[in-house]
Amino acid sequence: MDSALQTDRILIIDFGSQVTQLIARRIRESGVYCEIHPFQRVTTESVRAFRPRGVILSGGPASAHETEAPHAPEGLFTGDLGLPVLGICYGEQTMVQQMGGRVTTSDHQEFGRAVVDIIDNCALFQGVWSSGETHQVWMSHGDRVDVLPNGFRPVARTESAPFAAIANDDLKFYAVQFHPEVVHTPDGGKLLTNFTHNICGCRGTWTMSAFKDEAVQKIRDQVSDGRVICGLSGGVDSSVVAVLLHEAIGDQLQCVFVDHGLMRINEPDEVVRLFRDHFNIPLVHRDASTMFIDALEGVTDPEVKRKIIGKLFIDVFEEEAKNIGGAKFLAQGTLYPDVIESVSFTGGPSVTIKSHHNVGGLPERMNMNLVEPLRELFKDEVRALGRELNLPESFVGRHPFPGPGLAIRIPGEVTRDKLDTLRKADAIYLEEIRNAALYDAIWQAFVVLLPVQTVGVMGDARTFEHVCALRAVTSTDGMTADYYPYKHDFLGRTANRIINEVRGINRVVYDITSKPPGTIEWE
Ligand code: XMP
Repeated sequence: MDSALQTDRILIIDFGSQVTQLIARRIRESGVYCEIHPFQRVTTESVRAFRPRGVILSGGPASAHETEAPHAPEGLFTGDLGLPVLGICYGEQTMVQQMGGRVTTSDHQEFGRAVVDIIDNCALFQGVWSSGETHQVWMSHGDRVDVLPNGFRPVARTESAPFAAIANDDLKFYAVQFHPEVVHTPDGGKLLTNFTHNICGCRGTWTMSAFKDEAVQKIRDQVSDGRVICGLSGGVDSSVVAVLLHEAIGDQLQCVFVDHGLMRINEPDEVVRLFRDHFNIPLVHRDASTMFIDALEGVTDPEVKRKIIGKLFIDVFEEEAKNIGGAKFLAQGTLYPDVIESVSFTGGPSVTIKSHHNVGGLPERMNMNLVEPLRELFKDEVRALGRELNLPESFVGRHPFPGPGLAIRIPGEVTRDKLDTLRKADAIYLEEIRNAALYDAIWQAFVVLLPVQTVGVMGDARTFEHVCALRAVTSTDGMTADYYPYKHDFLGRTANRIINEVRGINRVVYDITSKPPGTIEWE
């Protein structure tokens, strides 16, 4: 099949920059499919096998002039592959070093906004920047290029980097010391598009609709006439997987929705109505709430809660899978950020902050093959795919919701009463957010019911009830987050409604912790 996904591809070699993912985002936004591969796994042969139209070398924390410095595959520079290359920051430095130029440690480091002088025109700048102009870019480097390899010429400079951008038009090699992928380089996206479209010749025809058609075909090829089980949670990822699979294989798909009793108001009904009634997808709905809530009795440790919920979830799912006669495949909503092997220079396994619950243990236990049709997508691309599949906006645009549900929003013991109180407060909070048209500006918003009771006065009576905390954060990927800066009147109105309408809560506080040092959820 001659599709954009297969013939219009860009390979990004990752040297460990914090912003490598942003390169991929910008490229995909311009309609070109790309993948990020860690430098340790890339060889001349693997580049050839990937069949890209061009290669981008990312930034990274190493120094190109050190002996142990990571390298790009030699085949890129010897002419074996004959591909255009764009080096960014460390990518520029390793290109220069590997091609016979020289990189040194600069006396003057540059971090943050900088101004580049354009000293010559080149294909990378075409229609964007012209000789004699100055433009804002984002720099983050300690080393700098000192001597250019043969055949290169400088096309932009800053005060401390004489080779802020360099070009070798014959080879179609370009390199920049600054980061075109970040928003602080306002023209960066256009420069990347010049590289992918004008220099590499990509057509920019990779669309969600094309992706959907290919994903449907791939699923059919993979599962043939086998049955596929899909765990539905009502979240965006599993919803999109379910609808996509249903389009591909119809009734060979069997969805299982395990209601652990830790969902928000009406959520279980909404899931069942949408998938069973609207999309006509075969769906088993198992109400296991009693089992989960009983198992949580007396448990206060967050990690123990998570482990209990995760294990029970797998038990129930497995049982239901057996009840429907099993299946050869398990569908999962794994996304691209979960798949990218990001390059770590610190080494060693990372510390477990929280045991996130997903159906990770299932495939081995049940001896099933995985179907993961979203493996190539970022979260907002999954949302775009959901829209392509006509999923309602109320599902597509949903805030993330954790697998262990409300249990991790009730520090201390989880009880039915507390769940009930929390559900009511949470519903009011989200309603106020929607009324204020803030839902889409916020990554995630929820109420946490605290195991603290405080004294209040309502009417003429003393009250002694729970405190709840409102949480709202902005984020791009959930890895870091900032608290949302509400106006005071919004907070006042919401707190008032919660205290007046929810029995059991007499005080509301707002959580202004960012991540790090906090996490988004409280447990
Ligand atoms: P934290 O609290 O670690 O959360 O800052 C980051 C994002 O992950 C969500 N989260 C989970 N999602 N299973 C999930 O599917 C989990 O166990 C889980 N724990 C946290 C959290 O809601 C936030 O979006």
